[in-house]
Amino acid sequence: MHEQSYRWKSKKIREQIAVIDGSVTPTIVLTNATYLNVQMKIWLKANIWIYEDRIIYVGDQFPSDTKGTEIVDCQSYYLVPGYIEPHVHPFQLYNPLSFAQYASKTGTTTFVNDNLMLTLQMTKKKAFSFIEKMNETVATMYWWCRFDGQTEIRNDEEVFSTRNLKSWLNHPLVMQGGELTSWPKLLDGDDFILHWVQEANARKKPVEGHFPGASEKTLTKMQLLGISSDHEAMNGADVIKRISQGYHASLRYSSIRPDLPLILEELEASGVYYYDQTFFNTDGSTPSFYENGVIDRAIAIALDKGVPLVEAYRMATLNVATHFYMEKYHGSIAPGRIANINFLEAKEKPTPVSVLSKGRWVTKDGAVQEEAFSEQDWSALGLGSLKLEWELSIDDLQFSMALGMEMVNEVIIKPYTVTVDVAMDRLSTDHDESFLMLVDRAGRWRVNTILKGFGTHVEGFASSYSNTGDIVLIGKDKQSMLQAFQRMKEIGGGMVLVENGGVVSEIPLPLAGGMSNCKMEELMNQESELRQHLFDRGYPFGDPVYTLLFLSSTHLPYIRITPRGIYDVMNKTVLFPSIMR
Ligand SMILES: [Fe+2]
Repeated sequence: MHEQSYRWKSKKIREQIAVIDGSVTPTIVLTNATYLNVQMKIWLKANIWIYEDRIIYVGDQFPSDTKGTEIVDCQSYYLVPGYIEPHVHPFQLYNPLSFAQYASKTGTTTFVNDNLMLTLQMTKKKAFSFIEKMNETVATMYWWCRFDGQTEIRNDEEVFSTRNLKSWLNHPLVMQGGELTSWPKLLDGDDFILHWVQEANARKKPVEGHFPGASEKTLTKMQLLGISSDHEAMNGADVIKRISQGYHASLRYSSIRPDLPLILEELEASGVYYYDQTFFNTDGSTPSFYENGVIDRAIAIALDKGVPLVEAYRMATLNVATHFYMEKYHGSIAPGRIANINFLEAKEKPTPVSVLSKGRWVTKDGAVQEEAFSEQDWSALGLGSLKLEWELSIDDLQFSMALGMEMVNEVIIKPYTVTVDVAMDRLSTDHDESFLMLVDRAGRWRVNTILKGFGTHVEGFASSYSNTGDIVLIGKDKQSMLQAFQRMKEIGGGMVLVENGGVVSEIPLPLAGGMSNCKMEELMNQESELRQHLFDRGYPFGDPVYTLLFLSSTHLPYIRITPRGIYDVMNKTVLFPSIMR
């Protein structure tokens, strides 16, 4: 049995009971509190007793002994449960902790995180000590168990082995299977994936799909196969299609797909009572998207679009907790729950002025309590800086392929025939075709092709942030690409843009080459600056950071660059294998 399987040890529960009996004093008592009882859908008045990280009592009584207890008069606040983000990709330049710290300031204190980066880049043992360490922080962090890598990796069988998947699914901090990007394989008869869907469901860990544009027939089959939710609805009709078939629909407001306002407008107009089956997510947006908040922002949008007040709060709290079978701990203000409570100035203002997370103040009367989040020794947690002990040379930068990859938009990349002469060291800026290379983090293999649509004037760009943790190089000029790579290596991982022999912009990513150790606010500035430089050099879409992920993402059409080579998604075949160096 995992140590985390019991949220509180028996001895601790006895102490909590002793608080009711008066022999142990509460840590905090919130008096005269008007709080949202999400189960009854009404605002009630109560005194709320908290002992350490747990809500002990909610009612009229006041403790007999309050020696050492912090008493907070809540006369001027409205209390709601802490918000839950059910679909986090916590490695999007930020790290799980910097994201949690930032989000918790505005009331999002529970996270259900993607484990993809951990499972691809760490041993299971390291990954588990990492997730356990993260949950010791003041934030509450749960995880997913991916069944596939969302790309074509070379050691797929090893990473997603029976042993590994079983251990992940058994871990008490793991709350869901998926997101299931390999659902076409499941549909095509892959019984290995079906087995893991069954195993997840047997453990009451719902499996999340990934069904953009899915037909009624596909959704029906997926329901039969055991999938519980989906976050790919792009409009009201998509949501209705899903909830009418028994899915929970996670409504997205992300940097790539900020669909929430439109979805809610259409749902409100439809007259359908959809609230109980829906919740919000921000799907791992890039840092600067979070400038106006996280789940609090989604609630504000819901209120703006006419969602009834109590329903909007339930969508951010109880609905998520119910979906993940964790309503004993999360989603409401009631005895026994973890003490995650947001203090609002007004019922219509979801961004709290004070926030309790695990019974500790992370924001109090508008002042952020920085010390609530302790510093981490990232190296000890397996996220040291990137050490590339190999060189890249001009010989690696050979491009002779007639087949290139064309970015039709941010998400779709299609094959195209290269028409410009790519035999030289520097491409013309008259067109939008650039050299593209994916090279193994360990330097063993590389894949070279031409990328159309990334920009006209990007001379040399290198990034250790990618889908698989391998290195992406893009540019018009081979020397600049080498220089960008060199600089990226020097700083222990990151993104570097080079031009005319100098570094124009860079984001150091010292945590395994994929994450920053800066505070979110600082990272937002760095990201905005780099983005602007790329826009200035002809990047025509919204989010260059996502492009780096999507270049290798085989759940998207039509062609991708992967560790196994150039990959045809529809035909599930490697068109040009990677080359050993
Ligand atoms: Fe996602």
